[in-house]
Amino acid sequence: MLYENLSVNEKGRLCVGGLDTVQLAAEFGAPLYVLDEDRVRANCQRYVQAMQAYLPAGSRPLFAGKALCFKGLYPVLEEEGMEADVVSPGEIYTALAGGFPPEKLYFHGNNKTDEDIQFALSSGVGCFIVDNPLELRRLDHYAGTMGKRQRVLLRVTPGIDPHTLQAINTGRIDCQFGVPIETGQAERFVAEALTLEHLEVEGFHSHIGSQIFEAAPFCDAVDILLDFAQGIREKLGFTARVLNLGGGFGVRYQERDPVVDIPGNIRALAEHLTAGCAAKDYPLPQVLLEPGRSIVGDAGLTLYRVGGVKTIEGYRSYVTVNGGMTDNPRYALYQAPYTVLPADRMNDQRTFRCSVAGRCCESGDLIQEEIDLPQMQREDLLAVLTTGAYNFTMASNYNRLCRPALVMVRGGKARLAVRRQTFEDLTACEL
Ligand code: LLP
Repeated sequence: MLYENLSVNEKGRLCVGGLDTVQLAAEFGAPLYVLDEDRVRANCQRYVQAMQAYLPAGSRPLFAGKALCFKGLYPVLEEEGMEADVVSPGEIYTALAGGFPPEKLYFHGNNKTDEDIQFALSSGVGCFIVDNPLELRRLDHYAGTMGKRQRVLLRVTPGIDPHTLQAINTGRIDCQFGVPIETGQAERFVAEALTLEHLEVEGFHSHIGSQIFEAAPFCDAVDILLDFAQGIREKLGFTARVLNLGGGFGVRYQERDPVVDIPGNIRALAEHLTAGCAAKDYPLPQVLLEPGRSIVGDAGLTLYRVGGVKTIEGYRSYVTVNGGMTDNPRYALYQAPYTVLPADRMNDQRTFRCSVAGRCCESGDLIQEEIDLPQMQREDLLAVLTTGAYNFTMASNYNRLCRPALVMVRGGKARLAVRRQTFEDLTACEL
């Protein structure tokens, strides 16, 4: 099994957090997102504890809501000592609706509109991660009109390629996020920020990419950021108190993926930072990280009902499920690897080579290609593992499919956290 929270019961059925997936699908329907809350909590604890143990005081993880965002998740995050990264007024609204304290929110985004800025300021968002000079000036203006001094971090691009998928790689210079260091623009960005009366600059932010398995690319980012910070200190007399290194640690989608040692990586990062600061005689900054995928990714799975099996003689076989790119667009977008399991017949021989297709009117609507399952029948249940991140949040209503429900599992009990959409929901905004 890919993770310890999965097991097979005496009926040969896949269980998650001790609960039988066949029963979950019977009770809550399919397709169904299942999130193991105990595993989310354990993933949070790994970050909180390792960051406290190895990094300078005040270092802490912010959960990246882009990976998963619904009201019921925020109390869990808060209880586990997480703060949160939000990228839109909608994410701010959701976090606050879940009772999350606004001062623990970090507001991201490369195009915060004037309305967004005002909304976030009046919501009392703790810190803005300012992406560019235009935003900087607007934020200073609105903070001034509201009589506030707003804490900010400045987003810079260190120009690192962490050898990940190009489409989800945001640390290179040629991208729409942040201000590049190499061209000298980041220095001017900081210089301007320091002149603005209504902003309190705490430090810098960079995000290098996603689905990264080791500490090395983060250490490279630390080197570049420390050089940059040192230069700023010498030229502008400003010392960064905070370095936010973004998100990016990976999860196991398939057996061939390595197990990522989060505490070990944080420790390596901390040692690298400490040595780098000592060499430069730079005061140790607090470190923030923004994990999304590695908090929720491996805590989620999706259950689908099989509808059809089609064998094109001499070509290949398709198994069709009652969801697809609408609830999980990641294979269609990135050819993302997944593990697909026959949830209701885990002990059967997997000798049937097939591709799993969704139900959308689009030939690219695939969940995974050329995998081995037992011979499938209508009404069988398939489980796609590791769907906790970037599935629910990237879902759509293409073909007017209703979004699935989301169930949270904790201590051997399941509770509905997001109900399934209805047809009325589909037309709710239509006049
Ligand atoms: N912080 C920033 C500024 C980010 O841009 C991201 C992700 C994160 C944190 C969280 O990164 P994580 O720990 O989840 O890797 N839709 C793509 C992933 C896009 C990630 C974008 N930024 C996917 O489905 O793989």
